[in-house]
Amino acid sequence: MPNGRNLVAGAGIVFLGVLASRCDSPKPAPPAPTAPALLGVLKPVVSVKELMENEIDPLSDNIFDAVSSRITKNGIEDIVPKTDEDWAKVRIGAVVLAESANLLKIPRPFAPPGVLNNSGGPNAPELTPDQIMAKVQADKSLWNSHVEDLRAVALEVMDIVKRKDTEALLVAGGKLDEACESCHLAYWYPGDIPFHEAREKKFTQEHGPVEKAK
Ligand code: HEC
Repeated sequence: MPNGRNLVAGAGIVFLGVLASRCDSPKPAPPAPTAPALLGVLKPVVSVKELMENEIDPLSDNIFDAVSSRITKNGIEDIVPKTDEDWAKVRIGAVVLAESANLLKIPRPFAPPGVLNNSGGPNAPELTPDQIMAKVQADKSLWNSHVEDLRAVALEVMDIVKRKDTEALLVAGGKLDEACESCHLAYWYPGDIPFHEAREKKFTQEHGPVEKAK
């Protein structure tokens, strides 16, 4: 007649058996992260160029312009967010940028039909939309890492808004600029990389190392 004790001991043996068989077999790979299924079909409306011009660029100004200095007749005046409304504006910029990272992962043309960017002639400053597309297709993970850098700064700004930390907001503005610029240098005007590096080197020599996003 089975009693409680026997049942417990039996369970222990079964448990050990499971452990032993786990040890014998090779360690299973950790499950790949799965994204939740989409609720519907994504429909990109504009090109990347227009997404930049009409959404990412104007809303990033909510962050860039929040901390600045202005020269007045009374000297230098520092502009920082003061009211709840000022901080709400910064948060709006950060939320739009964090979510726009998702929009940058939806396949869409880089420019409207017929637009070739400033890509004509020798030493053209910009790549054509087709050239940009080819670079992205050749290494999607690189594109996504630039997108995630943008999102990371946006998330940081959302946190800064909670703490109302104006010092940190100023630093985050620099990181945001770096996130925008490094993607543009990689895909849009790679010919500027030497100038950019020379400028960074000069800055580092004069002011010390620049803190990067991430
Ligand atoms: C993941 C890459 C990436 C990130 C991050 C990114 N951009 Fe862009 N952006 C592009 C590419 C690519 C183009 C060029 C598209 C084209 O013209 O073919 C562009 C174009 C632009 C343009 C030109 C639009 C026009 O009218 O021609 C502006 C302005 C711009 N970006 C602003 C920003 C700002 C501000 C940020 C950061 C807050 C940013 N971008 C972050 C990839 C990026």
